[in-house]
Amino acid sequence: MADNRFDGQEVPAHVAIIMDGNGRWAKKRGLPRKFGHREGAKTFRKITRHAKKIGIKYLSLYAFSTENWKRPKDEVDAIMDLFDKYLDEVRDFIEENIRVCFIGDRTRLSESLQRKMKSVEEDSKDFSAMTLILAINYGGQDEITRAVKAIAQKVSDGELSADDITPKVLEENLDTKEFPLVDLLIRPSGEQRISNFLIWQSAYAEYVFSDILWPDYKPSDLEDAVYEYLERNRRFGGV
Ligand code: IPE
Ligand code: IPE
Ligand code: MG
Repeated sequence: MADNRFDGQEVPAHVAIIMDGNGRWAKKRGLPRKFGHREGAKTFRKITRHAKKIGIKYLSLYAFSTENWKRPKDEVDAIMDLFDKYLDEVRDFIEENIRVCFIGDRTRLSESLQRKMKSVEEDSKDFSAMTLILAINYGGQDEITRAVKAIAQKVSDGELSADDITPKVLEENLDTKEFPLVDLLIRPSGEQRISNFLIWQSAYAEYVFSDILWPDYKPSDLEDAVYEYLERNRRFGGV
């Protein structure tokens, strides 16, 4: 049961967060960037649990982008090691009735990571308190390109005609096909950009930016963002 702190108001169904600022958090403390990622991973656990507590049904978290491979190899390796470790810990969420799913192109990830991802997804598929969507090697442009390729294949196989292609068909070919569109997109860390996260799905999302670095992000910051969302007036192009 969700906490009632939002006074009966409807919290956003789908919240997406760009977990940014780990490197700067470490730098401020004179530590190597990977310490920031380690700390950020702790925040990830806290915020996931809190999102469930306040009644959010879908939580998408941006963990690694298709562009993040540009980073130095030792940083990428440290992040991949953290995923490996956290995928074991993510099993705790299963006991908390949380369904865990992944979006992004997994083919570039290690076999061991891919195996763990698949087994967490399978073992949690019937859980319903919240769906946690982790974006690993995810890029919105890459996702849309893969969707277009899949649609083109159907057209060339004669399963679909070009005239049948609608936004709905495109949506059904995205990694997020099972999830609703994004209501609230949060970006901490001071940057005011989307960095290729859920670009199709956030077309009508509300955006909340803050200067807090991800390792410092607290459950009350998530609540503040939800309060801000509740004060917005969404029109979806209407009046
Ligand atoms: C986000 O933190 C984590 C990943 C992109 C993997 P950053 O590593 O981008 O931290 P900053 O933006 O450099 O502070
Ligand atoms: C976005 O952060 C990606 C993730 C948080 C996983 P970046 O740090 O990669 O984004 P830019 O480079 O500041 O746009
Ligand atoms: Mg960053």
